[in-house]
Amino acid sequence: MANGPTDAVIRVRDVVVDVESHRVLNGIDVDLYRGEILGFVGASGAGKSVLTRTIIGLMPKRQGLIEAFGVDLDKANDSQKRTIDRRWGVLFQQGALFSSLTVGKNVEFPIREYLRLSNRLTTEMAIAKLEMVGLKPDVYRDYPSELSGGMIKRVALARALALDPEILFLDEPTSGLDPISAAEFDQLILTLQQTLGISVFMVTHDLDSLHRACDRIAVLGDGKIIEAGTMEKMMASQHPWLKSYFHGVRAHADWQVAVKG
Ligand SMILES: Nc1ncnc2c1ncn2[C@@H]1O[C@H](COP(=O)(O)OP(=O)(O)O)[C@@H](O)[C@H]1O
Ligand SMILES: [Mg+2]
Repeated sequence: MANGPTDAVIRVRDVVVDVESHRVLNGIDVDLYRGEILGFVGASGAGKSVLTRTIIGLMPKRQGLIEAFGVDLDKANDSQKRTIDRRWGVLFQQGALFSSLTVGKNVEFPIREYLRLSNRLTTEMAIAKLEMVGLKPDVYRDYPSELSGGMIKRVALARALALDPEILFLDEPTSGLDPISAAEFDQLILTLQQTLGISVFMVTHDLDSLHRACDRIAVLGDGKIIEAGTMEKMMASQHPWLKSYFHGVRAHADWQVAVKG
């Protein structure tokens, strides 16, 4: 199999999305390369969540091409779509977990939906995933309301990993976490990328996360990708939004903390 920059697990070309007759995405071109962590940034309300939800098939597009693992999703039949759904895991920005289900039942949810395994094996798989994200097996019986924000994100990550996906979509995974929990979460994502070779599409506006975890960054503005490339390329960009974002007061303060931390 080809390996290198042209080996994209997700290809998005000229994607246009309207939400309630308002054009949110106006010709998006972006790739997620195999094995990379791509940071996806842009102003609040720019359409980062909309693009994520469009790629995974939860929102309709008006035009454009979305390919996953080389398959045009518009041409995939239901059985192909179901197979592709199993090959990615998603951590949503809101409503990360079912509050009425225990941690264990949350993580088992996709396993029960896609695989027919005994209860014992299903539970064993869920516990293995909880351990993979650094949680002790005894959280299995807890309810989400009993957990800290950082633990909830980890459980949601364990659920996203339940079916051993090749791609992770993470929508603002560290927002609302304290800086230490956020740094630990980023480290966990890096470990998963390095040990399992997972490709990660991470929406974030956490500059520390971008510096710490991401191989490449894509910036969304005015419905298009205004820049994509390495952090060095972002730092050198003359685009006004990128300059204020990557060189602003907040950027420096945040990056100082990241360097020290
Ligand atoms: N379910 C929805 N109903 C109405 N408008 C929506 C909905 N979801 C998103 N939008 C609009 O689409 C735009 C992009 O939203 P979103 O993708 O959530 O932004 P981001 O994730 O970049 O902060 C915003 O203008 C938002 O108001
Ligand atoms: Mg969002």
